[in-house]
Amino acid sequence: MPDPLALVPYPQSVIWSDGTWETSSPWDEISVGITEDLPRTEYALSISPTGANLTAGSEAALADGRNTFAQIVTGSEGSIPCVTISDYPQHAWRGMHLDVSRHFFAVAEVETLIDAMALHRLNVLHLHLTDDQGWRVEIKGYPKLTEIGAWREQSLIGHMSGEESAWEFDGTPHGGFYTQEELRGLVEYARRRGIMIIPEVDLPGHMQAAIAAYPTLGNFPDQRVGVREVWGISDHVLGVSDEVFDFLRDVLTQVADIFPAPYVHIGGDECPRVEWERSSAARTRMNEWGLTRVSEIQGRFTQFAADVLSEAGKRIIAWDEVLESHLPDDTVIMNWRHGNGLKSATGRGFRTIIANNEHTYFDHYQADPKGEPLAIGGLTTVKDVYTASFTPQKLDEDQQKLLIGLQGQLWTEYMPTAEQVQYMAFPRMCALAERAWGSPEQSWDEFEERLRAHLPRLDAFGIRYRPLD
Ligand code: ACM
Repeated sequence: MPDPLALVPYPQSVIWSDGTWETSSPWDEISVGITEDLPRTEYALSISPTGANLTAGSEAALADGRNTFAQIVTGSEGSIPCVTISDYPQHAWRGMHLDVSRHFFAVAEVETLIDAMALHRLNVLHLHLTDDQGWRVEIKGYPKLTEIGAWREQSLIGHMSGEESAWEFDGTPHGGFYTQEELRGLVEYARRRGIMIIPEVDLPGHMQAAIAAYPTLGNFPDQRVGVREVWGISDHVLGVSDEVFDFLRDVLTQVADIFPAPYVHIGGDECPRVEWERSSAARTRMNEWGLTRVSEIQGRFTQFAADVLSEAGKRIIAWDEVLESHLPDDTVIMNWRHGNGLKSATGRGFRTIIANNEHTYFDHYQADPKGEPLAIGGLTTVKDVYTASFTPQKLDEDQQKLLIGLQGQLWTEYMPTAEQVQYMAFPRMCALAERAWGSPEQSWDEFEERLRAHLPRLDAFGIRYRPLD
């Protein structure tokens, strides 16, 4: 019989049967339980004319089952088709990244994104909490991080192109931050929906906001910098003094305590070395550390962060640039620069997340720029996401096993509002979720038709998405 409901991601096995379950309170009536009879990642959901039953092999699988049930119930208006579903994900890591530094989003706006992620059985929210343009997490003992570092006086209008003298600014202060209490609340909100929040403290680059707050964290404390008002990559990176490492210990320890997840993301991307090259303190440090190349300094930061987090019982995740130095074996690599990087990361034995900027960067245009709001550039359509070949080079079986999942990225330079974030995230996130779940492979035409029928659920959740063509 035809599929009466368009589920996205599509479960591994769906068997429809005749009849409907008539109910006005499905969430009160469904019976739910954990069972040892199912593998930990699996859930089974059956709906018959007399009721619904959901069993799962673990809390995580139960959350997946509830989220599938939410899709079935949304828009069903009290008459729910009978069906038997058995389902499990292919990938443990089904992530969405959100940059709350370039633009700040209120807790309620992040919660709405979490709701929509859960609806698609995504299970990781990666919060990019710090960057040159704004520091967004309260750190006890460092009040200026949020008094000064969380605010920029104005933001660039349009792209950072042409002569600097021709750049225009909006003249409007932008900022905000989350208290530790708010973040703990968000962690709990997400946990109840089956989502783990991974915090990112990007280091040692992308630190201009912190240096603006505490100039002694930089390489040239006499040279005052503000919180960055343009996009791109800042040359102002962390200095190498004891004070800097004490600061990192405090920040990472507090962040590790706020977020119960077993990982902390330490960034590591795009760290220019020009300041270290010019700094006599950096040269002295290199001698002390026995380093011959400035490029080796970053490895010291990575190792320090890994050691501090290890004491807190956590492992590090980092962007793939960190592969340029020695790494702890249990580091998880987030591959963003090119899919070819998967081969070297997994070849060295690192567990790796696919987050490449060819298919998973949702700050790219999703159609001809002429008809779209300003974006950073590039073109990644929902079809590109659905049909992407995520592993361009052949990986052997051991390497394949090290690919723990997929993640979409929402860098927000050109997303000043939560509505704009939603527009850029959806419906590409639906396609990403289907790929991350590892639904049975279908044609693009089948997926597009199913997605079209699924979109009213996003309406029901109050999500503003880009309509399909
Ligand atoms: C990145 O896009 N800089 C990870």
